[in-house]
Amino acid sequence: MTYKPPRTFRLGDRAVNRMGYGAMQLAGPGVFGPPKDRGEAIAVLREAVAAGVDHIDTSDFYGPHLTNQLIAEALAPYPDGLTIVTKVGALRGPDGSWDPAMSPDDLTRAVHDNLRNLRLERLDVVNLRVMGDVHAPKEGSITAEFAVLADLQRQGLIRHLGLSNVTARQVAEARGVADVVCVQNHYNLVHRKDDALVDELAAAGVAYTPFFPLGGFSPLQSAELSRIAAELGATPMQVALAWLLQRAPNILLIPGTSSRAHLRENLAAAELALSPEAVASLDAIGGA
Ligand SMILES: NC(=O)c1ccc[n+]([C@@H]2O[C@H](COP(=O)([O-])OP(=O)(O)OC[C@H]3O[C@@H](n4cnc5c(N)ncnc54)[C@H](OP(=O)(O)O)[C@@H]3O)[C@@H](O)[C@H]2O)c1
Repeated sequence: MTYKPPRTFRLGDRAVNRMGYGAMQLAGPGVFGPPKDRGEAIAVLREAVAAGVDHIDTSDFYGPHLTNQLIAEALAPYPDGLTIVTKVGALRGPDGSWDPAMSPDDLTRAVHDNLRNLRLERLDVVNLRVMGDVHAPKEGSITAEFAVLADLQRQGLIRHLGLSNVTARQVAEARGVADVVCVQNHYNLVHRKDDALVDELAAAGVAYTPFFPLGGFSPLQSAELSRIAAELGATPMQVALAWLLQRAPNILLIPGTSSRAHLRENLAAAELALSPEAVASLDAIGGA
């Protein structure tokens, strides 16, 4: 029997479609500067929402600022029920570098920048993007930084809080400071370091949003993935997304793309049902 995963999961006080959209690819090369095709970027955002996407992931890091400004231009005033998740904790250097910016002033300024660029009076969800190490989670206390966001939440500037690039211990620590509605870490078919955390958060009813669901800057490639995709009459990227959807009910997807063709392909993956045999073969790719 093939398994059809649930279509929605709770993100804060709303149920959102598990197939969302990640806006990072809308910025220029290296996530820096304007999009290569501005008209297409606007069209991607509008088509995503028209097709039922009600969860968009973004950040003022992208561009910087330009991706949020594009989102506002394409979609504001926003439709009811659209949840925009942003993240704070870094600034872009003049050369495009990703620099930690986690002081109270940095975090407060970043929240106000996001409000202004997205043209919002309150941000739906703000993730603290922990920068202990830019590329992977690194242990270390995040209480002081998360408390700054909790204070901005109490002031009414943020609806819900989340975390990104964190360890299980940091998640537990932050949950002692304020409610955490989502965790966004690097995870996909072949990058499975968070397997235990995904299950732990599912049990706690907290959303897990994998970044790089398609492999990010190095798109997923595997002969077995291609073989299963061909058997299903689907693309390898669609199968990679379908695998994530069946992996755990709390997984929310934000595949990133700058093209409507890829957007359509990715959204259609929500309809793809995988057999237990296909899931077992795909699990084996990640060494599960
Ligand atoms: N918290 C963090 O630290 C962090 C880090 C990275 C990303 N993120 C978030 O996660 C989201 C997703 O990550 P991502 O965009 O970096 O990586 P991704 O979704 O794994 O992959 C995006 C790459 O795949 C390509 N692609 C998308 N759909 C495709 C398809 N159907 N067929 C073939 N290629 C396809 C895109 O190119 P095209 O544009 O040509 O489609 C792009 O090069 C981002 O948009 C961002 O919101 C968060």
